[in-house]
Amino acid sequence: MKAKPRILTGDTSTGRLHLGHYVGSLENRINMQDDYDCYFIIANIQALTTRLDRPADVHQNVMEVMLDYLAAGIDPKKSTVFIQSEIPAIAELTVFFSLLVPCPRLMRNPTIKDEIRDKGLGDNYSMGFLMYPISQVADILAFRPEVVPVGEDQIPHLELTREVARRFNQLFCHVDPHTEDADYLSKGGLFPIIEAKLGRTRRLVGINGPGPDGSLLKMSKSLNNAIYLSDDPDTIKKKVMSMYTDPNRLKATDKGQVENNPLWIFHETFNPDKAWVHDAEDRYRAGTIGDVECKRKLVDVLVALIEPMRARRSQYEKDLHQVKTLLREGTANANELANQTLLLAKEAMHQRYF
Ligand code: TRP
Repeated sequence: MKAKPRILTGDTSTGRLHLGHYVGSLENRINMQDDYDCYFIIANIQALTTRLDRPADVHQNVMEVMLDYLAAGIDPKKSTVFIQSEIPAIAELTVFFSLLVPCPRLMRNPTIKDEIRDKGLGDNYSMGFLMYPISQVADILAFRPEVVPVGEDQIPHLELTREVARRFNQLFCHVDPHTEDADYLSKGGLFPIIEAKLGRTRRLVGINGPGPDGSLLKMSKSLNNAIYLSDDPDTIKKKVMSMYTDPNRLKATDKGQVENNPLWIFHETFNPDKAWVHDAEDRYRAGTIGDVECKRKLVDVLVALIEPMRARRSQYEKDLHQVKTLLREGTANANELANQTLLLAKEAMHQRYF
C-alpha cells in the first residue's frame, strides 16, 4: 500500500478562529483528513513576533486554537497537531535555511510589508519578525509535505518555501536547476517543491463596512469584524442583524445591490440552499425583499454551521487535561518526523559529525 501523501499547515496562536479561517483553510483540512497524512502546526513563536508584550495570551491562545481545531472537526486520531516551539528541529532548520535567503529578498515579501503597515510596526520590528517567513519555511519543510492548504495571504511564504527547497536541492543534493518542480524528489532532492491549496473563498470579508480606500476589509480579529467559530447563537444574531449591507438602499430606492454586499457574500459562501439565494438576490435587486428577512435567514444558516462546533468545543473545554494530552502526543509524533528530516538535511550538507 502506498503511503498517503502528506500535508502541513497551521495557524499562529493569536486568538480564536473565525469564519475566515474556516473557509480559507480549515474546511479543506477537515475534508483532506482521510486521504492525507495531516500535520497541523500551532505557531506560537510566530505569534510572539508581534506580541512579545503578551506572552501569557500567546500561551492561552495555543489552547484556544487547539479547541477550535477539535471543535471544527479535526480528528486527533487521524491528524497530528503540535506546538511550534516544542519542535527543536524547526529552529535548527531555520538557521540553515537563513543561509539560503538573501536579506533583501525578505524585505520584498508583500505579506511582511502589509503587516509592517497594518500593525504599525514602523522600523521597530525585530530580527525575529523579519525572519519569521524563514521559520515558516522550516515549519513546512521539516515535514516534507506535498500540499500546504492556506489562505491567499500566505502565498508569498509558500513561494519562499519553494525557492528555499529548490536551492537546497540544487546545492546539496545536486539536482539540476532545470528540473521541473514535480521531479525534484525523483532526481535525488530532499525537499519536495510544495503546492498550495487555496480555500473555496480566497478572502472572506468582515461584517463591517469598507476601509478608507472604499473596498471591503477582510475578516480579521484585529479589525473587530469577525464571527467566531465559538460564538453562541445570540452573538451571531447580534452580529448579523447589525452587519453592513448596501448603504444606498435606505436612501434613494428600495432596490438593493448584491455585488460587494457582505450579506450576499455570506449567503453565497455559507447558505447551502442555492435556489433560495438566487431567488432572494433577484428580489433584493428588485426591492421586493427586505434586509431583515435576508439577515434572519443568514442567522439560521450560520447558527446551523457553528452550533455543532460550539457543542463539541464545550465538551473538550470540560477536559482540558485531555486536550493537553492530545497536544503532547501530537508534538511527540511531529518530533519524530522533523528530527528525521533534520538528520537528512545535515547529511546532505556534509554537517553530520557523529
Ligand atoms: N503564517 C500562518 C498564519 O498566519 C501560520 C503558519 C505558521 C503556517 N507556520 C505555517 C501556515 C506553516 C502554513 C504552514 O496563518
